[in-house]
Amino acid sequence: MSDWIKVAACAELVPGCWRVIDVDGAQIAVVNVDGGYYAIEDVCTHDGGELTGGTLCGFEIECPRHGARFDLRTGAALCAPAYEATAVFPIRIEDGVVWVRDDRWD
Ligand code: FES
Repeated sequence: MSDWIKVAACAELVPGCWRVIDVDGAQIAVVNVDGGYYAIEDVCTHDGGELTGGTLCGFEIECPRHGARFDLRTGAALCAPAYEATAVFPIRIEDGVVWVRDDRWD
């Protein structure tokens, strides 16, 4: 089981911004959407591209390589050329700090 990893102070991660952190070798993008925080693996299931750098639109992020879109809340692939979900992770807010944890191996 991985530990909770500090991402950033809430004040640093303002709406529309993201931060990518390494959690035990996994690249996890934590995104602020209208004050809510969502954590998604920074890997497109189409061809392994990074999702960050793509366009954010509501709860969707578009892969900058070939345009697949993913739901930040569930990781679901929303359109071709990606068909499989990418991973999402739990977020915790404590004392004005955002934390994330990779719970895939619990
Ligand atoms: S690598 Fe993301 S759509 Fe192709």
